Amino acid sequence: MPKIKVGVFDSGVGGAHVAHSIEKAIPGVKIVLKEDKAHLPYGNRDIEEIYSFIKPIFQEFIDEGCQVVVVACNTVTTNLIGRLRQEFPILMVGMEPMVKPAAKKTRSKIIGVCATPRTLSSERYKWLKETYAQKVKVLEPDCGDWALMIEGNTLDREIVAKTIENLIAAGADEIVLGCTHYHWIEAIIKDIASGRAEVIHPEKPTIEQLKKVLLQLP
Ligand code: DGL
Repeated sequence: MPKIKVGVFDSGVGGAHVAHSIEKAIPGVKIVLKEDKAHLPYGNRDIEEIYSFIKPIFQEFIDEGCQVVVVACNTVTTNLIGRLRQEFPILMVGMEPMVKPAAKKTRSKIIGVCATPRTLSSERYKWLKETYAQKVKVLEPDCGDWALMIEGNTLDREIVAKTIENLIAAGADEIVLGCTHYHWIEAIIKDIASGRAEVIHPEKPTIEQLKKVLLQLP
């Protein structure tokens, strides 16, 4: 029997991180990974422009026989997954900043969300905060350069350390990685935080959701 094809999309290397984790957790599927490195970073771009880039890519997922697509990009999920679902007849699993679990777990009532500018300005992200983090202070440091640094393998640890130290100094005890590129530097961020704040990202819950979606397939 042919393997179920699962599409994974991100602007760049964030998708590869998510794809590796899916392959490890669900070895029975064939991953079709697509990136748009020519137009990265998405996180500083106009929404309509991003939509014009991703439309043909989602059509390719369908043409190539994918049965479900993991939108491994917080920027695309928070701004465009609704439109994509309307336009493309394919199941989608999105990835968005874990505001809800962070707001539930924080003891200091202060959380930090590291994400792209476009994710932080999205209606969906605003809704997540209003719905789940009303009683929590949400700090949103400027991480506008991070995706490009990670993509180009030119990470400046000092820049990241300063951001994380500032969050912790301001009282954050939960740090949300709200961009899949940052999954590659999770270990560095955890090392900097050294137990003073928990660092979370949505890879595991995304895989659990994907497993549920796969069970629904005919
Ligand atoms: N990895 C994408 C995300 O999760 C964004 C990277 C970019 O700015 O292109 O938001």
